[in-house]
Amino acid sequence: MCGIVGYIGSRNIKEFLIEGLKELEYRGYDSAGIAILQDGALHICKAVGKLENLINKCASIGHEGFGVGIGHTRWATHGKPTELNAHPHLGEFSYVVHNGIIENFKTLKEELDPDRFVSQTDTEVIVHLFERELRNHSDPFKAFEATIARLRGSFAILLITKAAPDTIFFARESSPLIVGTKGEEIFFASSDAPLIGHAQQVHYLADGEYGFARPGEVVLFHDGRRIEASYQPLTIDKELAQKGGYRFFMEKEIYEQSEVIGETLMGRVKEDRIEFEELDRTFFEGIDSITLCACGTSFHAGLTGSYLIERLAKIPARAEIASEFRYKEPLLRPNTLFVAISQSGETADTLEALKMAKRANLKTLAICNVDNSSIVRLADRTLLTRAGIEKGVASTKAFTTQVALLWMLALYLAQRELPPSTLERELQSLLHLPTALRVPPQLHERIRRLSKRYLHGHGFFFIGRDIFYPLALEGALKLKEISYLHAEGYPAGEMKHGPIALADPELFTIALMPKGLLYDKIKSNVEELSARDATICAISPTPFELADDYIPIEEQEHPMLEYFQMALVLQLLAMEIAIRLGNDVDMPRNLAKSVTVE
Ligand code: M6R
Repeated sequence: MCGIVGYIGSRNIKEFLIEGLKELEYRGYDSAGIAILQDGALHICKAVGKLENLINKCASIGHEGFGVGIGHTRWATHGKPTELNAHPHLGEFSYVVHNGIIENFKTLKEELDPDRFVSQTDTEVIVHLFERELRNHSDPFKAFEATIARLRGSFAILLITKAAPDTIFFARESSPLIVGTKGEEIFFASSDAPLIGHAQQVHYLADGEYGFARPGEVVLFHDGRRIEASYQPLTIDKELAQKGGYRFFMEKEIYEQSEVIGETLMGRVKEDRIEFEELDRTFFEGIDSITLCACGTSFHAGLTGSYLIERLAKIPARAEIASEFRYKEPLLRPNTLFVAISQSGETADTLEALKMAKRANLKTLAICNVDNSSIVRLADRTLLTRAGIEKGVASTKAFTTQVALLWMLALYLAQRELPPSTLERELQSLLHLPTALRVPPQLHERIRRLSKRYLHGHGFFFIGRDIFYPLALEGALKLKEISYLHAEGYPAGEMKHGPIALADPELFTIALMPKGLLYDKIKSNVEELSARDATICAISPTPFELADDYIPIEEQEHPMLEYFQMALVLQLLAMEIAIRLGNDVDMPRNLAKSVTVE
């Protein structure tokens, strides 16, 4: 996930920009760059990979004395992580950095001279548009204002130009941007951390705000009218700043899901189809079955994917736990596509299973969150989940982005055969995911209050049917990892084959009761448990009269949207129970974020 910094003043500008980018490293990135305008000359430096590469490359640029500068860490979305695609992007005499997505960049690009473009990014259009506007408006600010008026989508933008060598132009729409001041110095960043210890006061830009800054002056506009900045002092706790005000990284990551799912879908969900720039149809030629292989949460995503692929694409699909797969002497048939799913891309069992598939000459595909990880390097093709760095040991946004990607993959494989109306419904539902994954404050508060009733007892059953069975497994895993309470996930129809023997008031059943899929079936399973006095917490769009507790989700057009909303509820429930028990939610005992040993 991208990060932005900017500076106007006389301290060592390169040092400030690089240190600022370091503070944003935790967000994840695959390339970085800075641009400095000093003594009328523009200097730029970009590098792929870690900031170390950038530091080594830019040794000769920037010097003491007044200057303006912008910097960026990029997490590739439009175009590969290359130096040309890294920010800042340059025109003839201006540079720009940008977070977000310019949705109408193709239309704008067609208006401009295509020969000027050197990158595959949407961002580059901003700088060329600005330089063209500058021919119509002699005032660079007017040119900037005219430029941003043409942009659709989300953005946080910083632009510097030789036409105004002491100025940074800035704008925000749905992507965070902060401006800070200290005397004559001006600072910019996309989150607090780079500003701590530097800026005395900060203004958090609201959507639609834009303006320009010069030494000692920040001029702010909204809708063409000048407005006053509302400055406030800055927190001094860096870790708190990185957590964005949330109590735990896990909480922040739960709340980020709406945004990062948008990144996962970006450029892939078209009006009438799914498109992956990383894949072409020929890759799937001859494939007649799919094996999805993973560990832990990623396995639960894979299991969900196996239901979706079989249902939508009519291709036999099965999910395998990697540590089992390695030793079960599996039959590896050449027409099977092997899909390795992993957040980290370093999980030893999944990596070894992938190696087995490679040795057997299977086609292999990685679904992964970390580019250049071992699994990505080994697989024939990769689809990146684009969740950004996940710090909490308990996986949240990695899971939902994996499931979203598997849903897209199922549709990609199915789209030629699906009736147009079905495909349209699926695509529309996918596009609704960012909305479905927003956390309503009243929902979080209800879960927080309810959590106090679930701190004891002798265990939890999470039950669901169909795709809600893997989600039940995930809910149980989430709870046990961070609360240390015993929890099991079950297919609801299995209860009467044994587990129901445990039912009593101290056995808590978390029942996933979607309206859109097998509601009557799950209802009767829950009734059986209730008749044996189990304590029931129903998660459903419909209140269930036998439930002791009820967590409502919204009515949805598609069961997958219910799935994602329930995922959110299960994550919040696990977290709130763990917090009440006084556990370290981000670093639970005995667990590591990445399991690189067998
Ligand atoms: O990085 P991976 O997705 O390959 O990791 C797999 C599991 O170790 C991981 O999902 C683990 O189960 C998480 N702690 C779950 O929250």
